[in-house]
This record gives sequence, C-alpha cells and structure tokens, in this order.
Amino acid sequence: MRLTYTLCCSAVVWALGLAAATPARTLTTGKPSFTYNATHFLLNGEPHQIIGGQMDPQRIPPAYWRDRLQKARAMGLNTIFTYTFWNLLEPVQGNWDNEESKGIATFFEIAQEEGLYVVLRPGPYVCGEREWGGFPAWLSTVPGLVVRANNQPFLEASESYLSNLASGLRGLYIHEGGPILMVQVENEYGSYAADHDYTAAIKDILQRTFGDVVLYTNDGTEQWTLEGGSVPGVLAEVDGDPRAGFAALRKYITDPSRKGPLLDGEYYTWTFDSWGYPRSTPNTQGFVDDLEYVLGNESASISLYMVHGGTNFGFGNGALWQNKTRAFTSSYDYGAPIDEAGRTTDLFWKLRETIAKYVPEGSIPDVREDVPLKEIPAFDLTPAIPLFSALGVPTYSKTPLTMEQLNQSYGFVLYEHIATSSASGLLSPGDRPRDRVIVYINDTFHGVIDSTYTYHQNISLNLVPGTKLQLLVENLGRVDYYSRGTDFENMILDPYKGILGDISVGTTTLEQWAIYTVPLDSLPDFEPKGGNVTALNGTQPVFYTGSFTVDGEAEDSLALDTYLEIEGGVKGNVWVNGFHLGRYWRVGPQTSLYLSGTVLRQGENQVVVLELEPGHVQGGLKGVGLSERFWAVAEDVDCLGCM
Ligand SMILES: *[C@@H]1O[C@H](CO)[C@@H](O)[C@H](O)[C@H]1NC(C)=O
Ligand SMILES: *[C@@H]1O[C@H](CO)[C@@H](O)[C@H](O)[C@H]1NC(C)=O
Ligand SMILES: *[C@@H]1O[C@H](CO)[C@@H](O)[C@H](O)[C@H]1NC(C)=O
Ligand SMILES: *[C@@H]1O[C@H](CO)[C@@H](O)[C@H](O)[C@H]1NC(C)=O
Ligand SMILES: *[C@@H]1O[C@H](CO)[C@@H](O)[C@H](O)[C@H]1NC(C)=O
Ligand SMILES: *[C@@H]1O[C@H](CO)[C@@H](O)[C@H](O)[C@H]1NC(C)=O
Ligand SMILES: *[C@@H]1O[C@H](CO)[C@@H](O)[C@H](O)[C@H]1NC(C)=O
Ligand SMILES: *[C@@H]1O[C@H](CO)[C@@H](O)[C@H](O)[C@H]1NC(C)=O
Repeated sequence: MRLTYTLCCSAVVWALGLAAATPARTLTTGKPSFTYNATHFLLNGEPHQIIGGQMDPQRIPPAYWRDRLQKARAMGLNTIFTYTFWNLLEPVQGNWDNEESKGIATFFEIAQEEGLYVVLRPGPYVCGEREWGGFPAWLSTVPGLVVRANNQPFLEASESYLSNLASGLRGLYIHEGGPILMVQVENEYGSYAADHDYTAAIKDILQRTFGDVVLYTNDGTEQWTLEGGSVPGVLAEVDGDPRAGFAALRKYITDPSRKGPLLDGEYYTWTFDSWGYPRSTPNTQGFVDDLEYVLGNESASISLYMVHGGTNFGFGNGALWQNKTRAFTSSYDYGAPIDEAGRTTDLFWKLRETIAKYVPEGSIPDVREDVPLKEIPAFDLTPAIPLFSALGVPTYSKTPLTMEQLNQSYGFVLYEHIATSSASGLLSPGDRPRDRVIVYINDTFHGVIDSTYTYHQNISLNLVPGTKLQLLVENLGRVDYYSRGTDFENMILDPYKGILGDISVGTTTLEQWAIYTVPLDSLPDFEPKGGNVTALNGTQPVFYTGSFTVDGEAEDSLALDTYLEIEGGVKGNVWVNGFHLGRYWRVGPQTSLYLSGTVLRQGENQVVVLELEPGHVQGGLKGVGLSERFWAVAEDVDCLGCM
C-alpha cells in the first residue's frame, strides 16, 4: 500500500498504535518526503535533525538574500525558518502584491540552491515584533471581524491570504522537490487565548491551501500555553529554554496525535530593541551550552531566533503594551549571529564551532570574508519645507476619525481645529494617546503626550476664539503581542491609531476638525524652499534634504553598506533615494540606521529627513555614514525622566 505522508496519516497511524517507523522505510526510493514518527523527523525516511535559524525575507533587501542565506548555511544550519508578513503582501484588501509574493518564492529557491531546507511560518498572525503581528491595518475596518478568533470575516480574510501565499509557493514543497519541510499553524496562540475551534479552523485552512505538508504548532513552555495553543492532529512544539521546553512537551502533550520529535522552534539568540530601553549583554556561553544540549540528542531539533534579524524598514515595527507602549526600533539586529548589516559576529563563530561538533566533518561550507562597511563623510542636511506646508486636502469631520477610518495604515495624522469659543484645562487626546501626540498652538510647538511615557505629561491649554490647535499623532507601531498571562491592562491587540473618541480641553469637547492623512508611503512632492528653520516656523516638523556622492568604480553593493546617523536629530524618519529606512530617535538605543548599499548609486544620492522637532535641534542636522555602529540611550528632551 502506498501511503501518503500527510500529518493526518501519521496521526492515524499513532492512533491505531502502529509502529510509525514502518512507512518511512518505503519512502527511500519514492519522491522526496518529510514526515516524523514519535521520536524522529524523517527526511526521505532517514532520521533528520533540524538545525535551523530564523530569517525573514521581508526584513532583508532582496539583493542580499543569497548573501545572508549563504552565511546561515556556512554557520552550519540546514534549515531556514521564515515568517511571512500579510500586511506587506496584501496592503489593501483584495490587492495581492504579486511581486512581494514572488519574492518569497525566490528567497526559498535561493535557500534550496544554498543547501537549506525551509520551515514556513505564515501566521496569519506572526507576532515577530512586526506592526500588529503582521496583520494588515484594514482588518480593523471589516465589520464583525475579530483577529485571532473564530469568526467568519477573519477566517475568510485569512483563507484568502493563505491561499494566495500557498499558490505562489507551488512547486516548492518537499514532496514536489522543493525545500519546504513543514508549515506552522498560527503562532504561540496559547499565550493569547485557548479557543480550539479557532485553531482547528486555521489548521483546516492550511490543509486546504497548502495540501500535503506537515503542520506543527509552536508555544511557550507553560502548561496553559501548550494546552491553549496545541491542536489535535498537529505536532506540538515549544520555544524558549530547550530544557524547560522539552520537559514541558513531554509532560503536558499527552495526546499521541500531537506528540513527536522535539523542536525548540524559537531559541532566542538574544533579543529585540525598543526605544528608550538600554541594550543588554547576551550570555554567549549559555547559548553554546543550550545548543550542545539540543544537538547532542538526535531526537531534538532547534531553530535559532534570529540567525539574522534584519530591519523593520519604514513603519514596519510593532510594539508591546505594558500599561504603556513599548515600541520596537527600526533595527531588528536582535544581537543575532549575523548582524543587521549581514556581517558575522563573535556569536556566529562560536555557534559555528559548536555545530561543527555535531555534523559530519567538512559538511559546513567556508565562510566568505565580510566586506567592510563604508564610511560616508558628514554632509549637511538643510531645511526644505515644513511638513504642514506639504499636506494634501483635509477631510472635514465634526468628531475626530481614527487612522483606520481614514483608510490609512501607518504614519501620522494631523488633526486641526480653530477654536470658536473659549476653553481651558487639560487636553485629552481621545481615549488615550495613540501613540505620540505633538501639540501645536497657533503653528508653534507646545508639548508632547506620548503613550510610551510611564507618566503622561498633562498639557494645559487656554483656547480663545481663533486659536489654532493642531495634534500631530504618530502611530509608533501597532501592538504585536499580548499575553493572557500578564497583568497589564487588557488591550488584546487594539489596532486603532490617531484619535479614538473625542478631543477635549477641560470640560469642553472640541468639534469641527480638519484632518490630514500623512501616511508618507511616498514622499510628498515639494520644491525645497531653502531658508532657515526659524523662518520656516522652526518648531513645526520640517523636511530637510541633503546629498552625498558615491564615486569610483561600480563596486559590490556590500561595499557601500553603511550605518547612517542623523547627527543633531531629535526624532524623525529618513529616506535615501526615496527608500524609507525607518525612524531615528534620540532616546536610543538605536543611534544609526542600516543603509543598504543596494539603495545607493554611483554619483549623487538624495537624503530626505523628516525632523519632527527642529526646535530642539542644536547646531543643525548632519548625516554621516559609519562603518561601525554604537548603541546608547539618551534622555528624551520632551519629557525628562518620563520613559
Ligand atoms: C522512528 O524512526 C527512526 C528511524 O527509522 C527509528 O530509529 C526510531 O526507532 C523510530 N521511532 C519509533 C518510536 O518508532
Ligand atoms: C533525547 O530526547 C528524548 C525525548 O525527549 C529523551 O527520551 C531522551 O532521554 C533524550 N536523550 C538524551 C541522550 O538526552
Ligand atoms: C474609506 O474607504 C471606505 C471604503 O472604500 C469609504 O467608504 C470611506 O468613505 C473612506 N473614508 C475616507 C475618510 O476616505
Ligand atoms: C496629570 O493629571 C492627572 C489628573 O489630574 C493626575 O492624576 C496625574 O498625576 C498628572 N500627571 C502628571 C505627570 O502630572
Ligand atoms: C492664538 O491665536 C489667536 C488668534 O489670533 C489669538 O487670539 C491667541 O492669543 C493666540 N494664542 C497664543 C497662545 O498665541
Ligand atoms: C496595569 O494596569 C492594570 C489595570 O489598571 C493593573 O491592574 C495592573 O496591575 C497594571 N500592571 C502593571 C504591571 O503595572
Ligand atoms: C532665520 O530667520 C529668522 C526669522 O525670519 C531671522 O530672525 C534669523 O535672523 C534667520 N537666521 C539666519 C541664520 O539667517
Ligand atoms: C508660519 O506661521 C504663521 C502663523 O503663525 C503662518 O501665517 C505662516 O504661513 C507660517 N509659515 C509657514 C512657512 O508655514
């Protein structure tokens, strides 16, 4: 009898109490296969240990995919684990981005060419310190839709996403001769909730869309996370500390249809950075010990999260809610063995040495020498135009509209009101600040209310007829992770940005607003006006422009990689040749932005900076390209001691 090696069949085999080893043998001469029995992953019928690491193509410039994958292979890995970000694949409902989708397929093809297998983690929710855990913002505007829950609107939207993704990857599954070994169901769902109807529905969708492929779940190491997130008929795995994780799997996963070989699906090689929080130092020896512990047991596998973190370009980062917002930096360096710029680190070499002890001698490829980063001499950035002079046409509304109601996903919204009567007292910007609210009176900076602060500042206003009040509200990244195990105020995954609710001053609710969307998905068309910042109403956000020259022979773009620092900058965003690198913020710990050489060209390169607080800039703005980066926190000029 020729068996098909789907998860459901493995589960049936166990349920019947049959030896799962038997079918595996028959596969050695058949088409490629990946399956498992109670103790081992089986690749073409042979025991297989996954030595994996996470790398997300959507955080890496496509031209560097091969470079990063080669390095991962040369560290000794045999598998790449990958999240896909729905919000970049379907930014507008129904508008599937074929280029982005083809890119993911290309990344997997390159992985295979470089000798790597792939484990796909498509979500639909992926967490990953990404904006709203990878969800597109438009989900929040679909009537009746609740994310990560068992309701038709969410399941329909998810099925549409997953079926588009799956069809773009056709030909790349292991049984088709491709590199994809297995696909994850949801993501650490047990930390969030325990609705088994929902996870069963996602499993069914994945089976319908991805077909014949092994599925698995990945959860935290507690009884409640494993019980909440594991799914009947789906291999249950863990993340975090492998000793605790494997013990928890053995103890709490008793249903034979969920049991199998051990996988630590996210072994943290360090951690993310968030604005205002100092970087900590990793325990490298601890990583080595844990890796040895896992690799020493051939029924255990591992994925290093991250082997290479990359960058949350543009507005790609998410945030945590800890009774205040904790926003992730644009850098997703993560302290990973391959750093944000794709260079090897001490950790890379230590882990490579460790892995080498457990794989056949000579099976790990050589490591190509790192290309040094480029230094770009300091160049001036000069004020070009205030943001408020580069706005489009407003929407007029009696009450404020949220960013989502404005059909906007990321960036800023400017709310403008001209007082028709007097009002005084504390300013209340909706139900709470979402997230950073800069207040202007009569075109002049007045103060900041920001949900990242432990103690919000109270801004008192005294409006008289004719006073112009403007609130520039920045989405610092939607929350991507919420655990039911914490005692933070229950936010779940609240997606709303801009102003939700009314804006009031004292007891007066302000009505009649001109609302400007400032998504900055492309730069506004502006003619630099030149002149000095003060003349340009210096305390308003200002676009600065500048340029630098790349000369010489057309070189390997890796040789043009640099870390761009905005000297003197307080807070803002940076574009180079129109490509949005991300945010800078004086508070650190990120002090420079990864500027990929792929963005640069020979000759003149244009830099645009949106500085939100030119009034706090001292001594002008300069750009400079560094060959080495530094991490440091600094005090927030807007709210001393608030963070
Ligand atoms: C799983 O398969 C491997 C390889 O054939 C075998 O060594 C092992 O005993 C099997 N485990 C079980 C529980 O049958
Ligand atoms: C390897 O892991 C299996 C499954 O948890 C366990 O039974 C076995 O004792 C471990 N072997 C070693 C050498 O630690
Ligand atoms: C947002 O889009 C919806 C659906 O296309 C439309 O009905 C609504 O008027 C739009 N709202 C704004 C403020 O543009
Ligand atoms: C702001 O005002 C509220 C209400 O009056 C008060 O409880 C809080 O302590 C004030 N916060 C600060 C930072 O002064
Ligand atoms: C703002 O402008 C209004 C109208 O010109 C004026 O009456 C008011 O005094 C100004 N307020 C401040 C604080 O400048
Ligand atoms: C967060 O806020 C909630 C509700 O106000 C409170 O019960 C909880 O103790 C707070 N948690 C922390 C860690 O401050
Ligand atoms: C900048 O403009 C202001 C206001 O017009 C003016 O007072 C100041 O002298 C100018 N500064 C420079 C350096 O030109
Ligand atoms: C500066 O602000 C004043 C109001 O205070 C306004 O009339 C003027 O247009 C603004 N200038 C620019 C360049 O935005």
